[in-house]
Amino acid sequence: MNEPIFVSGGSKGGVGKSIVTIALIDTVLHFKKKVVLIESDTSNPDVWKMYKDEIKTELIDLDVANGWIDMVNVCDENKDAIIIINTAARNNKGVTAYGGTLNSTLEELERKLLTFWVINRQRDSLELLKDYMDALPDSIVHVVRNSYFGDEGKFELYNGSKVRESVESSGGKSITFPDLADRVSDDLYSKRLSIDSAMKQLPIGNRAELTRWRNEFRKILGEVIDG
Ligand SMILES: Nc1ncnc2c1ncn2[C@@H]1O[C@H](COP(=O)(O)OP(=O)(O)O)[C@@H](O)[C@H]1O
Ligand SMILES: [Mg+2]
Repeated sequence: MNEPIFVSGGSKGGVGKSIVTIALIDTVLHFKKKVVLIESDTSNPDVWKMYKDEIKTELIDLDVANGWIDMVNVCDENKDAIIIINTAARNNKGVTAYGGTLNSTLEELERKLLTFWVINRQRDSLELLKDYMDALPDSIVHVVRNSYFGDEGKFELYNGSKVRESVESSGGKSITFPDLADRVSDDLYSKRLSIDSAMKQLPIGNRAELTRWRNEFRKILGEVIDG
C-alpha cells in the first residue's frame, strides 16, 4: 500500500474543516512523513495560504470533473506522500457527481481513503454524511465532533444516531477535536500562520495555549491515523 489520502469534509461552512486540515498536516509532519495539501476551497483557500511556503500544495476545484481528474493524478504522482484534501462548503454536489472518479481509482492508486467528517451539533451535518458515504463507499469515515461547539456530550443528535452506528460498524471512529482559544485561532487565520510559524512568532502565552491544543489533537488524530 502507498500512503493514505485524508479528506477533511463536512460540506457545511464554518464547522471546522480548515482547522482540522491544519491539525492533520501538523500531525503528519510531526511523524516526519511527506505531505501534499490539495486545497479545494478555491474561493477561500485559507489552509493553502498558511502552508504554501512550507509544504507542497495544489489548488484544485472539486466542483468540476477536471478537478477530480487532476486530484487523482496528483495522488499518483506523489506516491510517497500522504495527500491531505481540504474541502469547501457545499461541495456535496461535486462529491455526488464525481466522487466515483476517486473511489474507482483507489485500488489502482493503492491508497486508502480516510475521511474526517467534521460536525457541529446540528442535524444537517449528519444528513450530508449519508450522501457522502453513498458517493465514496470505500472511504473509512471518522466523525469529528468539534468541541468548539460544545463538549462531547452535547452532540446528542450524533451520539444517539443511526449514522453513528453505521460509521462505527464500518471501521470508523467518533472522535472529539479540541477547542483552541479564540485569540490564538484568530492569530492563525488573520496572520495566515502555519502552526510552526506561529510557534516562532506569537507571544509566549499564546504559544503555550497553542502547544496545549497541539498536544491534544496530536494524541487524538495520531491514534486514528496510525491504526
Ligand atoms: N476547534 C476549534 N478551535 C478554535 N476555533 C475554532 C475551532 N473550530 C472552529 N473554530 C473557529 O471557527 C472558524 C471556522 O472554522 P473553519 O475551520 O475555518 O471552518 P470551515 O473550514 O469548515 O469553514 C475558524 O475561523 C475558527 O475561528
Ligand atoms: Mg474551510
